[in-house]
Order: sequence, then C-alpha cells, then structure tokens
Amino acid sequence: MKAVQFAEYGGPEVLRVVDVDEPHAGAGQIRIAVRAAGVNGIDWKVRAGHMRDMMPLTLPVGTGYDAAGIVDEIGEGVRGVAVGDAVFGNGSATYAEYALLESWHLKPAELSFEEAAGYPIPVETAVRILNQVGVNAGQTLLVSGAAGGVGSAVLQIARHRGIAVIGTASEQNQSYVASLGATPTSYSPGLVERVRALAPEGIDAALDIAGMGVIPDMIALTGEPKKVLSIADFSAPKLGAQVSAEPLNAAGALKQAAELFATGAFSIPVRKTFLLAEAAAAQALSATSHGIGKLVIKVS
Ligand SMILES: NC(=O)c1ccc[n+]([C@@H]2O[C@H](COP(=O)([O-])OP(=O)(O)OC[C@H]3O[C@@H](n4cnc5c(N)ncnc54)[C@H](OP(=O)(O)O)[C@@H]3O)[C@@H](O)[C@H]2O)c1
Repeated sequence: MKAVQFAEYGGPEVLRVVDVDEPHAGAGQIRIAVRAAGVNGIDWKVRAGHMRDMMPLTLPVGTGYDAAGIVDEIGEGVRGVAVGDAVFGNGSATYAEYALLESWHLKPAELSFEEAAGYPIPVETAVRILNQVGVNAGQTLLVSGAAGGVGSAVLQIARHRGIAVIGTASEQNQSYVASLGATPTSYSPGLVERVRALAPEGIDAALDIAGMGVIPDMIALTGEPKKVLSIADFSAPKLGAQVSAEPLNAAGALKQAAELFATGAFSIPVRKTFLLAEAAAAQALSATSHGIGKLVIKVS
C-alpha cells in the first residue's frame, strides 16, 4: 500500500510516499481503508523530533493519528463494529491507504469522511480539558486559540454544556469564533483589560490551547492558578497551572461529537484538503499554527 513515512527526523521534506506492507488488526484494534486522515500539531512535532524523548520511535515510521474510513479487518476481542462500517477514530500511521485504529465510533452518514477525519484528537482533547479544568454550566471560560481544531471543539462542547466562553483569535477569525457562540477578542497585548471589560463578573476557568505565553494573564484573570490549564505550554506547572497531555476515553468523546453533530450542534470546518503526496505541505501549514478548523489529507 501507499503510506507517508519519514526515515529521519527533520523538516517537512523528510516525508515520503512509500510502498509498505499493509498493517493487520491486532487484539482490540480495527483496520480501516482510509478515506481521509486528520492533520494535527502532534504530527509535525513528532516528525521534527521534538517528542523523541517522550515517544521514542524506530525509523522509518508512518505519520498521523486521526482518520476516517471503512472497516475492513477486525481484531480479536473487538465488538460492536462490522466490516463495511464507516468509522472515525484514533490510531497510528494514518496518512496511508490502510491504518489501524485503537479507538473509534460509527461515522454519522451525513458527516463527510473529510470532516470526520478532523475530529478525533480535537474532540478527545476538548472533552478531557473541559472536564479537567472543572468548569460548569452558568460559569465563564476563557479560551486562548479558539479558532483552531481543538478550539472549535471546545467552544461547541462548552456551549452545549451551558458554559459562556470568551475566545481569542486573530482579527480575521473573530466572526468564526462568534459563530460558535463565543464572545471573540483578539490575542494582542492588553488581554487582561479586554477580558475584564467583557466579563466584569470574572473568569471562572481558562484553557490555553495555543501555548503562546498567556498563562500569567490567565492566572491574573481567574485569580487561581489551578483554574488555568494548558495543552501546549508545558511550563505552566511552574506557575501553579495545570497541563494535560494524556488521552482519556477517546471513544466516549467521539460518541459525544457524533451525537452533537446529529443534532446540528457540532461541526469543525475543513479548511483545506491535501493528497498523500502533499503531506509535507499539510504539516508545514499546520506548523504555522494559524487558521480556522482542520487540515485533512484526502486518501481515496
Ligand atoms: N496536550 C494535548 O493533549 C494536545 C492535544 C491536541 C493538541 N495539542 C496542541 O495544542 C495546540 C493547538 O492545537 P490545534 O489543533 O487547535 O491547532 P491549530 O488548529 O493549528 O490552531 C491553533 C490556533 O492558535 C491560534 N493562535 C496562533 N497564535 C496565537 C497567539 N499568539 N495567541 C493566541 N492564539 C494563537 C490560531 O488562531 P488564529 O488563526 O486566529 O491566529 C489558531 O486558531 C498545538 O500545539 C497542538 O500540538 C495538545
């Protein structure tokens, strides 16, 4: 099969489309014929070697963790899914014609494979960090990096839970943030004053999704370091804030997203699609860390 791999750590140019043996579903796994693969920040961070101490890899290795496609092999012990089902979920080496998934959910028929491929990591992350930071209906949450993949998921799940959100984005993405039910503001200097004016009653919790040095401002706004959580700035604990990195109940999060999608309350737009041969361009664009919604590799 065709797959995108890298044989050395480095820039996007180390990615190659190669012919490799097809993987086979082990216990607890399913194999899908990949229709589309989601592009996430972790993809280029792993490829660049930034994660090599935390996630040692044997090279050459495939890239990508999210995908949507058609089930064509079922591993031992797997129940509730059949060959031929359309699913979306998390696995490994997903920029390929076939990939193994560890967590999945049935794809709603009206949800395109391209859009579904963009959901797994953002949706799992959004559910996890909203639960971990501890914010409830009727409270106000500040989100830094509100327009991207994870931000889009956080804003919509928070809205469903009755949480008011103030979300930061660049000027061109303010109306997108407002369309997801949040109050947009810019991330230029003066954030504390702008947010205080927008939420005079105070901020109950804050999520740093973009990881751009906003933790001290978030602590000033919540008044309590523990009510601030980052997924991209691992220096946060030095200031008493939380970090979150370990996936938790991915299948449960996908189920929630599928249910919300079915009611019209959830969608993450696909900003741009790429072919397998364009994986380097997709990861290079992802690494700029700007823009709304998701980048997706269209496989078939
Ligand atoms: N720890 C975990 O479990 C975990 C899980 C998932 C993702 N992540 C990490 O979380 C980060 C975000 O992921 P993502 O998929 O949402 O990325 P993304 O889709 O690329 O979105 C990044 C967002 O950051 C915003 N941004 C850029 N510069 C900013 C700044 N100075 N201040 C505030 N916002 C800024 C951008 O907004 P504009 O376009 O409006 O500029 C963009 O919407 C990545 O680093 C990713 O690797 C961590």
